[in-house]
Amino acid sequence: MKTFRNFIAGAWVEAASGEHFDNRNPADTTDLIGRFPLSSADDVNRAVDSARRGFEAWRRTPAPARGDILRRTGDLMSKRKEEIADLMTREMGKPLAETRGDVQEGIDTAYYAATQGRQLFGHTVPSEMPSKWAMSFRRPIGVAGIVCPFNFPMAIPTWKMFPALVCGNACVFKPAEDVPHTATVLVEILLEAGLPPEVMQLVHGDGRVGAAIVEHPDVALVSFTGSTETGRLVGETCGRMHKRLSLEMGGKNAQIVLDDADLDLALEGVLWGAFGTTGQRCTATSRLILQRGIHDNFLGRLVDRAREMKIGDGRMKHTDVGPLINEASLNKVERYIDIGQADGADLLCGGNRATGRGLTKGFFFEPSIFARVEQGMRVEQEEIFGPVLSVIRVSTPEEAFAVNNGVKYGLSSSIYTRDVNIAFRALTELDNGITYINAPTIGAEAHLPFGGVKQTGNGHREGGWEVYEFYSETKVGYVDFSGSLQRAQIDNYLGTPS
Ligand code: UN1
Repeated sequence: MKTFRNFIAGAWVEAASGEHFDNRNPADTTDLIGRFPLSSADDVNRAVDSARRGFEAWRRTPAPARGDILRRTGDLMSKRKEEIADLMTREMGKPLAETRGDVQEGIDTAYYAATQGRQLFGHTVPSEMPSKWAMSFRRPIGVAGIVCPFNFPMAIPTWKMFPALVCGNACVFKPAEDVPHTATVLVEILLEAGLPPEVMQLVHGDGRVGAAIVEHPDVALVSFTGSTETGRLVGETCGRMHKRLSLEMGGKNAQIVLDDADLDLALEGVLWGAFGTTGQRCTATSRLILQRGIHDNFLGRLVDRAREMKIGDGRMKHTDVGPLINEASLNKVERYIDIGQADGADLLCGGNRATGRGLTKGFFFEPSIFARVEQGMRVEQEEIFGPVLSVIRVSTPEEAFAVNNGVKYGLSSSIYTRDVNIAFRALTELDNGITYINAPTIGAEAHLPFGGVKQTGNGHREGGWEVYEFYSETKVGYVDFSGSLQRAQIDNYLGTPS
């Protein structure tokens, strides 16, 4: 069995404590993937010291050259796509088609980042004064603390680190303890692509490592994806320490299906949105809002299809739904099944651990659907992060919008309708960072801004062009070539209009 290491100060090293934790396959917990360092604040301190040195050289490397390293990173990831997808499914559980997509999202992010190295636009604007130029440009910030979740073991770290690197920052990377292997491979690839070693630090471990990164005074910015509860703690620390922070947290995303919708399409959409990735996406469809006219018929078809979904090891060919990530996650889903029933929702299918051939050694759970869910019930309000869908019946599009908006989260939403006016009204009325028309709530593309409103985030976006603003700071330059003192706001003053 293999023992893996941290990457700190340009070398693969054990944790200072010498301790380890086991990483197991969630589809078969007897399959031990490896042992990883259980790190502490000592390791983080060394990593940040090294990253500061890395930053000093890296920030002076021209951005197009930084981008070239990301292009090579994308090339290497493409070459190893199949192998990475396989090892990712082994440690995270989702089916191979999905882990391939996860790697592809990383590749797309790499190539996009490479082109950004030749952009990172500033502005040049007219000065108030003659013979004077006024402009803005972007500067790197420093050491970036990158704290990642388990559900997109490749894509999410790349969303954060590739823009951070192209902008000229150094990274201290803390992957989720459930997916340390994929993280290790990503760091190996970055190094092979030519990233100077001290620009990247990989520190494995549990929440204590994340906390040590967030609390370190020399970590200037933090990007965190995870639960709203942990995000609040991260936010408190960063607020107190005046750190730049990007938070990407929970969701309670709804798919709305109106009476005029293409029901076949809407059915495929909700099955994918609710049960893809075993519901473990912050964009997952966890509420289905059905208009009265189609409610009964659609629900009947949905339950039939959900019962047919094939639960199993993501590395087996016909698997639709892989395992949950770990025991705690399974317990949480079970708890919500109890809560939904106690609150009076009607469990139409699922609700149990999936058992049977090949399922006894993993964290498998049946796709579960609650009907007769009322607004305000806990299964309608709270993020479950599992294969549990709550169905709410409404009479009008307006009511559907109100139900969609009646939660504290605001990541993504979806509406199925053939009415173009309602579709555009939904785009403007739904309180989410992303709204899909006639497509499920999952599946954001890497070159568009990604993020949510309300308690889902803190106003920043990942992906696309906007994230480059998070990882860089605006600096303004004035160049006065008049040879004389020109006083802004004074010398060009034309007098008060009479
Ligand atoms: C997440 O679940 O944290 O839009 C990210 C999607 C994926 C990313 C999800 N591209 O579903």
